[in-house]
Formats: sequence, structure tokens, C-alpha cells
Amino acid sequence: MRKNIVAGNWKMNKTLSEGIALAKEINEMVSSKENNNVKIILGTPFIHLTEVKKVLSNARISISSQNCAAEAKGAFTGEVSAEMIKSTGIDYVIIGHSERRAYYHENNEILLKKVKQVLANNLTPIFCCGEVLEEREAGIHFEVVRKQLAETIFTLSNEEFSKIVIAYEPVWAIGTGKTATSAQAQEIHKYIRGLIVEKFGQSIANEISILYGGSCNPANARELFANPDVDGGLIGGASLKANDFIEIIYSF
Ligand code: 13P
Repeated sequence: MRKNIVAGNWKMNKTLSEGIALAKEINEMVSSKENNNVKIILGTPFIHLTEVKKVLSNARISISSQNCAAEAKGAFTGEVSAEMIKSTGIDYVIIGHSERRAYYHENNEILLKKVKQVLANNLTPIFCCGEVLEEREAGIHFEVVRKQLAETIFTLSNEEFSKIVIAYEPVWAIGTGKTATSAQAQEIHKYIRGLIVEKFGQSIANEISILYGGSCNPANARELFANPDVDGGLIGGASLKANDFIEIIYSF
């Protein structure tokens, strides 16, 4: 059975002390509640990884970075390699977030290199895909997502692909307060799972978690997560407040 996952993406928010305080609060709240079998991931800035890891005692909570370098090592000033990330003891790396694609010009070729670095270091990629508003309005969102996947993670072997977590994040819903409806989310998640069936077979498709991201909050999470092909969420703004994040985790 595939995992239900609620992952927070803190983006470029929280100083180190604020991040540690938030992680502690989430750790305490999760530990005081019953285990509802949801994997919880905190996607922190690089400099927070090691310190946040120290304050997490609950085995249900893992940590993710939000990016990694496309190269293994060397003269790439300012970059952080997958090997360095692995050496902090964390487990996940978000790759291909639409903000990385839009502001840092990360194309499919670069993203595939990053995914390979992540896998080579025994980390789990959380691979993001999703269309912008004009593409949705033009009705080409299925094709856009298909191409994003075809040129990246769909070129992996069955063994490599089975380690991936996918996050579908319609760009028009990110930070806008505009969420995809529950039906829109299910429609495209089902489409993505269908593509996985075609390429990798039904049993791998059954095991891949596909998360929804884009203005997911305590008020809409329950309806979104009730869909058969929505296996959780990648949460931006609402992951910065412990209470909201916990409510989302308990929306399953
Ligand atoms: P918001 O939840 O703030 O819309 O952000 C979603 C997102 O980009 C998560 O990666």
C-alpha cells in the first residue's frame, strides 16, 4: 500500500531559531496524538536541516531539503550536493518545484540530473510537476504534465522510479488562495497514475504516492485527501503554523 504523506515546504521562511521552535512544536503535537499512519515531512532550508533533525524525536516525522545541486561536487559556488544533504542524515529532497523552474530556470534536463543525484545518494526525491494558469485555461494541462514527467522521471528504470514521490502542484494555486477543486485534483492525479500504469505497470503505480500542492489548508484538506488518487499534500503557507499543519495531517 502506498503511503499517505503530508509534507511541509517552508520555502525561504523562518530563521534558524524560528525553524527549530516550529519543528519542536510539531514534534510535540504529533507525539501527543494518536498515530494516523501519515508520514510527515518538514521541508526546511538547507541551514536548518541538522538542527531541526536534533529536535525531532517522533519516528513519523522526516526532513526534506527543498533543492540540491545537479552536479556531484566541485567548483559550483553556493550549491549544495545530494551527498552533503545525505550526510546530514535526512531522507527527502524536493526537486522541480515550480518556483525553481520559474525563477532559477531549471528545465527538465537539469531536473533529471538532480533526481539522479538524489537517487544515487539513497535519498527520496519529491518530484514536482504542474501547469501554469494559461496552460490550464488553454486546456493543455494534461499534456504539460505528461511532458514534464516523460522528459524526467519517466526515463528512470522501474527500480529507480518506484522510489519517487510525485507532487502535482498547479502553479495557479500556489500561494494564491485559489485551490484546485477536489474534482480537478482527482482528475489529474488519476491521469498521472494512468501514465504510470502505461509506463511502469499497475503494481508500481499502486505504490507511488501522489501529493497535491497549492493553497491546501485545514479547510480544504479533508475533501482533497478523500480522493482515491490524492495521497496527501505538499503544503506551503499552512505548514508554517503548527496548528494548521497538524490539522492538515489529521485530515485523513
Ligand atoms: P501554498 O500552500 O502556500 O500554496 O504553497 C504550495 C507549495 O508550493 C508547496 O510546495
